[in-house]
Amino acid sequence: MKNKLDSSNIMLAIQKNGRLTKYSIGLLEKAGLMVDTDGQKLYAKCRNFPLDIVFIRDEDIPNLVETGVVDIGIVGNNVIAEINALVDNKLLLDFGYCRLVIAVQKESSISSICDLENKKIATSYPRIVSQYFQKKKISVNIIQLNGSVELSPALNIASAIADLTSTGSTLAISDLRVIETIFKSQAVLISQKVTSSEKKQNLIDNLVFRFKAAQNAQKYKYIMMNAPQEKLKQIIAIVPGLKSPTITPLATKGWVSIQTAIQEDVFWEKVEKLKQIGASGIIALPIEKLIT
Ligand code: PRP
Repeated sequence: MKNKLDSSNIMLAIQKNGRLTKYSIGLLEKAGLMVDTDGQKLYAKCRNFPLDIVFIRDEDIPNLVETGVVDIGIVGNNVIAEINALVDNKLLLDFGYCRLVIAVQKESSISSICDLENKKIATSYPRIVSQYFQKKKISVNIIQLNGSVELSPALNIASAIADLTSTGSTLAISDLRVIETIFKSQAVLISQKVTSSEKKQNLIDNLVFRFKAAQNAQKYKYIMMNAPQEKLKQIIAIVPGLKSPTITPLATKGWVSIQTAIQEDVFWEKVEKLKQIGASGIIALPIEKLIT
């Protein structure tokens, strides 16, 4: 493998096999980076950027970044917090959302974290969990497990678990109910605190710039509409755009075409208002990249 990786390239570590893998590759693609994985999950090369990608187990990524074995990594900030890695958080990636929760069996009499005094809690996140309970001044006995944590109450290993949940289906299947959220997580792009060379730092900055453009593009749509000129002020108040909308006169007297960017999360609410004040022929298009 050594020969296939180029030391003048930057090396990105992404999750080998899990929920972040697909989204991490998706982010590279949305940023216009062409990655040849050839179906292999060990390493990949980028065809149009000096970037090598290595597929690594989640829990190894923060240390590999901290020690400079790889230049950057994509990993959940739950993993970074658990390992206590000294890395730079370059960019929150808006995927891989999950929560570390305390859960107990549905029929358990435990209803709050105060009821856990001197009780056993099974988890794969002993550091985050013990810090949490120390802060709350509640003494608990942490049982460290590397997987299948949700089984531990049924196996009488522990009274409660501290585990990650995303959809909540694993907890539901295991007849567990959440009593507290102790940590919220999402995927994050990390780098070494001090990068080994200026050249690499520039490449990392360039990559972050591209990722941001891809992220911004997803948050906006490009919208075009026709409207009576007299309504222009009201329309601009609803869709002010990034700086201000582009206005073009239509062949029909007294009408204009308005083009602007609109945030995805308020799209329908704003379109409703635009229609009410007389906008018509409203067209929305996806944006591929958005540099603000
Ligand atoms: C986590 C966690 C649960 C599951 C919960 O495991 O340990 O098993 O996700 O997700 P849900 O709320 O969507 O059902 P993950 O799949 O991240 O992998 P792991 O088992 O290797 O920890």
